Amino acid sequence: MPLAESVTRRGFIKKLSVFIGGAFAAFGLYRFLTPEVEGGDVILSVESAKVPEGGALIFSDKQTAVMKLDGKITAMSLTCTHLGCTVALDGDRFACPCHGSVFALNGDVIKGPAVKRLAVFAAEEKDGKVTVYRRSAV
Ligand code: FES
Repeated sequence: MPLAESVTRRGFIKKLSVFIGGAFAAFGLYRFLTPEVEGGDVILSVESAKVPEGGALIFSDKQTAVMKLDGKITAMSLTCTHLGCTVALDGDRFACPCHGSVFALNGDVIKGPAVKRLAVFAAEEKDGKVTVYRRSAV
């Protein structure tokens, strides 16, 4: 009965395909309906004691600065909002080497051509550790 066997095999493959397709669809729906990680993706974490009051810890590889200003932890993107160069800490401000934009430590534009402030990342301090998230601070 090669024909019956062939039909059975075809039927099995069809059912298997439907099952696999359904599993992928269910997984995709699950990922769509559930948030990734509470708080968003973590950019970095560092011991709180390493963040100097009134100063900044620079993480060049993460394009991020972590600062403590008036006792409050702040994390700032180091990506210039003009054309994306990396800004550098220059005293009490950030300066962009590409076209000269200058930003305050809170990210506000002091001097253009950039018109948009630096992005401020969400950061939380807990159990002696600062965690910086990829989402923006509110
Ligand atoms: S990229 Fe920073 S000022 Fe142009």
